[in-house]
Amino acid sequence: MRTDARRVGVLASGRGSNLQALIDAQRRGELGGELVVVVSNVEDAHALERARRAGIPAVFRDHRGRRREEYDADVVAILSAHAVDLVCLAGYMRLLSPGFVKAFEGRILNVHPALLPAFPGLHAQRQAVEHGVKVSGATVHLVDSGLDSGPIVLQEAVKVLPADDEDALAARILEAEHRIYPRAVRALLEGRCRVEGRRVIVEGE
Ligand code: GRF
Repeated sequence: MRTDARRVGVLASGRGSNLQALIDAQRRGELGGELVVVVSNVEDAHALERARRAGIPAVFRDHRGRRREEYDADVVAILSAHAVDLVCLAGYMRLLSPGFVKAFEGRILNVHPALLPAFPGLHAQRQAVEHGVKVSGATVHLVDSGLDSGPIVLQEAVKVLPADDEDALAARILEAEHRIYPRAVRALLEGRCRVEGRRVIVEGE
């Protein structure tokens, strides 16, 4: 990542609370960059509304009936047209094609509601409750071509309480996501992340 790389694009499919955390961090001057475009594959995703309210270009692209590679090339073109340096997945419910990952190699972040490599994939909070773990949490990681498998940038642990159901745990993990995602974005944009194989050394964290 160039240290002058400061333009951030966000892909989101849903309510967009992590996008909001990034918007709020930018407002506080704590993002280390500028959110320049939000793209969604869901027309009525609340994330698009949050982007519009924040004055960020919001683009809907329907993925239905389109081949993954072709759709992703379209999204890559939108991000490139906005000169995006860093792509943040924020509740983006699609796997990225190899072509997408290659186009932004080492410059795609995702937030996941578990302490990876535990509980990758969907319903991570439910998986944690059902497995009976005592601690779960949130992870921000670089995206590679696998499922939730890229090098880990930041994590925050969250206790699983005896009374927790999926929703209660998800709500507390979400608060942790909102804390670590902006910090991870900032660390990457400020050139404070050094990737050594699977390990990401984050200066100042
Ligand atoms: C978050 O729990 C995130 O970890 C997962 O999808 C959810 C998105 O929530 N990848 P939101 O749309 O950011 O509110």
